[in-house]
Amino acid sequence: MRLNLLINHDKHEMEIDPGTSLLKALRSLGYFGVKHGCETGECGACTVLLDGKPVNSCVYLAAQAEGHSIETIESIGQHPLQGWKRTEGFHPLQQAFVDSGAIQCGYCTPAQILAAKALLERVPNPSEEDVREQLAGVLCRCTGYLKPVKAVLRAATMARGEVVEPIDSLIPAPPDWFSEGEAHPGQDEAGYPGADLPTQTQVMPRVQVTPETKAWQRVGKPEPKVDAIKLAQGKPAFTADFEMRGMLVAKVLHSPIAHARIKMIDASQALALSGVAAVLTWKDIPRVIYSTAGQSDPIPGPLDSFSLDNKVRFVGDRVAFVAAESEEIANRALELIKVEYEALPTVLEPSDALKSRAPQLHDEPEYVNFGESDPTRNLAAQIRIDIGDVDKGFEEADHIFEHEYEVPKVQQAHIEPHVAVTYWDEDDRLVIRTSTQVPFHARRQLAPVLDLPIKRIRVVKPRIGGGFGGKQEILIEDVPAHLTIATGRPVFYEYTREEEFMASRSRHPMRVRLRTGLKADGTITANAMYALSDTGAYGCHALTVTGNTGHKAMTLYVGDGPYRLSPNIRFYADVVYTNHPPAGAYRGYGVPQGFWPLERHMEKIAREMNLDPLEFRLKNALRQGELHPFSTAWSEGREPRPEIIQSCGLEECVSQGKAAINWDRKFRNPVWHLIPDKPFARRGIGVALVMQGTAIPYLDMGGASIKMNEDGSFNLLVGATDLGTGSDTVLAQMAAEVLGVPVDDILVYSSDTDFTPFDKGAYASSTTYISGAAVVRTARKVAERIRIRAAGILNEENATNFKPDEIRLVDRLAVAPDGNRVTMSEIGHHALHHADQEQIMGVGSYMSPVAPPPFAAQFAEVTVDVETGQVVVDKLLMAVDSGVIVNPITASGQIEGGMTQALGYAVCEEMQYDGEGRPRERDFRNYHIFQAHEMPDLMTIFIETFEPSHPFGVKAVAEIPMDGVAPAVGNAVFDACEVEIDAIPITPEKVWRVLAQMDVSLNND
Ligand code: FES
Ligand code: FES
Repeated sequence: MRLNLLINHDKHEMEIDPGTSLLKALRSLGYFGVKHGCETGECGACTVLLDGKPVNSCVYLAAQAEGHSIETIESIGQHPLQGWKRTEGFHPLQQAFVDSGAIQCGYCTPAQILAAKALLERVPNPSEEDVREQLAGVLCRCTGYLKPVKAVLRAATMARGEVVEPIDSLIPAPPDWFSEGEAHPGQDEAGYPGADLPTQTQVMPRVQVTPETKAWQRVGKPEPKVDAIKLAQGKPAFTADFEMRGMLVAKVLHSPIAHARIKMIDASQALALSGVAAVLTWKDIPRVIYSTAGQSDPIPGPLDSFSLDNKVRFVGDRVAFVAAESEEIANRALELIKVEYEALPTVLEPSDALKSRAPQLHDEPEYVNFGESDPTRNLAAQIRIDIGDVDKGFEEADHIFEHEYEVPKVQQAHIEPHVAVTYWDEDDRLVIRTSTQVPFHARRQLAPVLDLPIKRIRVVKPRIGGGFGGKQEILIEDVPAHLTIATGRPVFYEYTREEEFMASRSRHPMRVRLRTGLKADGTITANAMYALSDTGAYGCHALTVTGNTGHKAMTLYVGDGPYRLSPNIRFYADVVYTNHPPAGAYRGYGVPQGFWPLERHMEKIAREMNLDPLEFRLKNALRQGELHPFSTAWSEGREPRPEIIQSCGLEECVSQGKAAINWDRKFRNPVWHLIPDKPFARRGIGVALVMQGTAIPYLDMGGASIKMNEDGSFNLLVGATDLGTGSDTVLAQMAAEVLGVPVDDILVYSSDTDFTPFDKGAYASSTTYISGAAVVRTARKVAERIRIRAAGILNEENATNFKPDEIRLVDRLAVAPDGNRVTMSEIGHHALHHADQEQIMGVGSYMSPVAPPPFAAQFAEVTVDVETGQVVVDKLLMAVDSGVIVNPITASGQIEGGMTQALGYAVCEEMQYDGEGRPRERDFRNYHIFQAHEMPDLMTIFIETFEPSHPFGVKAVAEIPMDGVAPAVGNAVFDACEVEIDAIPITPEKVWRVLAQMDVSLNND
């Protein structure tokens, strides 16, 4: 049909199929600021304004939009300087989103800005509640909504012509910043949650700064993200925002049954369909076994996957690939592929997997073992670690506590789905443009699968719309790549949201048993954990994720006195294959699975032994100067080497967190636990102490190159992959600090395997630490060349004799001790055009011998309805030692977003399967992630320590917020109503069932 659309005041005439969605029509016209996140109207990424009102364009027919005015992000503001042309500049909302750190991956940002614009046009002075209600229709998996909400309020203030607080009003907190008994942000006078923050636009966290940072100009400052401006404008920065002439659309036929052999497969009818360019089955491509886990070489896990196999192992496994001229034709072709399955018995219960008669999932002869994997026993990995003399430790104990806990399968749920485009370039090299956390691993691991040498593959990583570990997987790139090889044409493949739930990766669900021996005074004498981990149908990340469950969580408590010098710790795990979709990497990487049991267990022990829960924990916790007990026992399947903890701010985290949440006024205070006029409600407060790691020692490497331009700007090329975390920005800040220039002068590019130096990619919370150290090394090389040239220029001009190392680089100047100076742009010009011409540039890389852990205290306050079991989390507070904070805005964004994901893990997220292995959760309607209007108060306190192994003293920040929310909430629920929940998520039904058994009195007395 013919259609006339009015988009951003421009008229468009187009010929489309009547069933075409408005989303598809808009993107086909080049409005790439409108994003695809689902097909069912639930994520809001596709929001546009129709006659000024937000609508989800994915479920709105283009034909319905005729006669209406459509507004997309492309219309609302742009860079004020367009060459000689001046524009009106950015909309206040765009500016406020950039300034407030409201943009992480930026995939939801255009939709949030448009939704907010509609609100502000209606309500110029909205309340925070109004904003949260308005943003509720746009899911954000990165931010925790705090900064987007504050950005909208800030924009409203600006639009009304009122003064807004400067964003960079950093609030360094002196050691006594929090003192008990004061009312603090987010609390009323009585210390109860619910009061508004003192200023509606405050987005900065509290930072207790280290003295080392005082003289720095760029590191430690809340610089805006270097990619924020383009993301606020909805520029075509993502993988899917890319067009090529003749591009085909790929689709995958997924298995409807959990375990079967493919007896017969016939693609002839599909191939005969007009518009189908290729259909591939297992018979058509080379049979190459590999691992989809994006990890350094050699992959620390079994090789057990094929692009296509003659067997399927879970509902959603791959059966065939199709490439066609359009999505509709590709979908029709899938229906025409005839498959006969020979159903096989399934393993759906992890504890059945190791039984002697259990069906074997991996009987392929090509299977390659790693470590203790044994496919004949459905064992993807096995871990047996004994530190000290665990049995003796238990013999010496006065008390032994033993309990079992459970953690569910949950999903990363990044709003941008997995997406990749492949094509042959003019040199017959295969280009893979993909939303990946691991471009270099993808190139290396795909080479044998595609039968191409590494040098004939180029992987390009554009902006990533969230990953959280889900894109540390070589999950879909092989599909379009095989189809490009088969057809010679560019191929586009993007997961639907249903495919994300059925056929991507998730957190490993585990059943964990803990046994702890203690002296009567609360000294831990021995601590033992056994984990049964379900890796699903394939063993990607099986060993390393589950190893980290022990390596990070079981390290925290070493015991006290002689036990502190020689702790007794055991960690055993079996990682088994089942006919569930594979698990993989998910932010936290096995550690949240360890801390739910550990911190619930510590709470039970403290309460049963009548010990103060915080004093008991700190008495036994690891301290600065001590040996990381697992460092000599295990290192992700490689040789372990001893590591000393050189920085640990855990005690200060407890002290500041405790004061900020008014712990002493609430814990064990019967009055605080009751709410006047709400006899059915009980308040509770809980805590969890946690630690993580920073990178993988002696293995993962980051690289960087820096090139100076003639205007004194620098190109910083990194292989590191910013998946929304702000890593490009913090890397630029470090380079700017060394080179003495504003962040604006550092032009960051990441990443392209042809142009950027190698980097292992974004995982293990390593980018600021590993890639950052590589950037610092590189910048120092460049700074040295600049100083040499500056000294030459200044000495010649002023007849002085200064040495290069006497020259300071600051404020775009090279300054000699006598005050004479030369600008960076003069140095750049001089180097490229005037004398002894040279390209000033440097390359550097870094691999760390240590993985210094960040530490944190996480607190939660809840209200439990003891009639219904409903748990409302009122407040989450995290006091964290992540070393020096390079950028408090981006770092606190990581904490807020991480706590929000962890909150879902605690109370509502779970992927469930029926008796045939079919997923129950296939969309955001059934898999609930937190929305803007459902959020508790979030508060972040950074307790800086200076980690001496890094030039700027940094440690990891991205993963640790995932670790302690669930146990803190679980402990708070117990504190509220004595309900012990040992399996997350803590659903109302679970709480209600325990309450029903307890027959809780609703009497306020
Ligand atoms: S893409 Fe339209 S609501 Fe998700
Ligand atoms: S910033 Fe909202 S989804 Fe990433």
